[in-house]
Amino acid sequence: MSGSRILGTGSALPRQIVTNADLAERVDTSDEWIVARTGIRQRHIAQSDETTASLAIAAARAALADAGVDAASIGLIVLATATPDNTFPATATKVQAALGCNGGVAFDVAAVCSGFLYALTVADSLLTTGTAKRALVIGAETFSRILDWEDRTTCVLFGDGAGAVVLEAPSAQHTGSDAPGILGSRLHADGAQHDLLYVDGGPSTTQTVGHVRMKGPEVFRHAVVNLSAVLREVIEEAGVSVDEIDWVVPHQANARILDATAKKLGIAPDKVILTVDRHANTSAASVPLALDVARKDGRIKSGDLVMLEAMGGGFTWGASLIRM
Ligand code: ACO
Repeated sequence: MSGSRILGTGSALPRQIVTNADLAERVDTSDEWIVARTGIRQRHIAQSDETTASLAIAAARAALADAGVDAASIGLIVLATATPDNTFPATATKVQAALGCNGGVAFDVAAVCSGFLYALTVADSLLTTGTAKRALVIGAETFSRILDWEDRTTCVLFGDGAGAVVLEAPSAQHTGSDAPGILGSRLHADGAQHDLLYVDGGPSTTQTVGHVRMKGPEVFRHAVVNLSAVLREVIEEAGVSVDEIDWVVPHQANARILDATAKKLGIAPDKVILTVDRHANTSAASVPLALDVARKDGRIKSGDLVMLEAMGGGFTWGASLIRM
């Protein structure tokens, strides 16, 4: 029997688009540099009336509509974010209140860019053990609020947004090798790499929110090695060949990381969903956002074998193979 099934997807982006040319007016950078080094052309940036919760709620509503299910049937909300509306309570509880499905389980997961993979795996486990029948798994971020807008090495890389999936518990109706559902997931963390990518503030240290700090080239090298390794683990665990994978939906950090990882595994570049050009790096939101884009534009269809993968601060990283 497969794991939990994705019934629907949804996403939400802030209204305001900021181009590379717009950023070049604020910091010493250029459209040419950003496109050549990252593949990013623009990003959406939240205005003061848009928050992680408001984006998450919009994405969740879109996913529920896509799945054709009522919010009342959602017994579990797992929301991945590094930019919650408040230090507490969890932003997931704000989503729950807005959707009116109070009484079930709702909590946030902090694994930065790989947060959605962590949230999906935790939700799948809780559904499999009977905690709930249906879940919303959300990645939502307003990274613009923790960027140092004077630091050209980080501020050009990120954007805001949210993506969500409705996940249903495994059922005996769905068995066999073509049954829809999660076929395998693997998660990892290496806390020794903290200083390569972190935020220099927090409630218990500086009592401030802090700003993103990153040693970009080192992160890049670790990302390619770690992502290739975890993809191989999931492929082996699921007993499929690389050629059987229809689509890879990677965390959208940098087009060059996506190219290098796909090349290492022998995955054709046209099987890799790329949204980093339009959205930049939206951290935990990037995988569900890209998944929703590729489902809505008709590329990812029912029955396709789809690999999700991400790496982020911690370091944390993971991958999930899903039959849609
Ligand atoms: N505009 C113009 N020049 C810049 C900019 C900018 N925005 N940023 C840096 N530079 C300069 C640097 O100062 C440096 O100049 P120097 O040679 O005179 O010292 C030069 O460009 C090269 O800088 P590098 O940092 O070596 O450039 P690199 O090719 O490694 O690209 C980047 C930097 C884009 C950050 C890349 O290393 C990267 O993408 N790393 C991965 C990090 C990442 O994606 N993190 C996101 C979260 S983790 C994850 O999701 C995997």
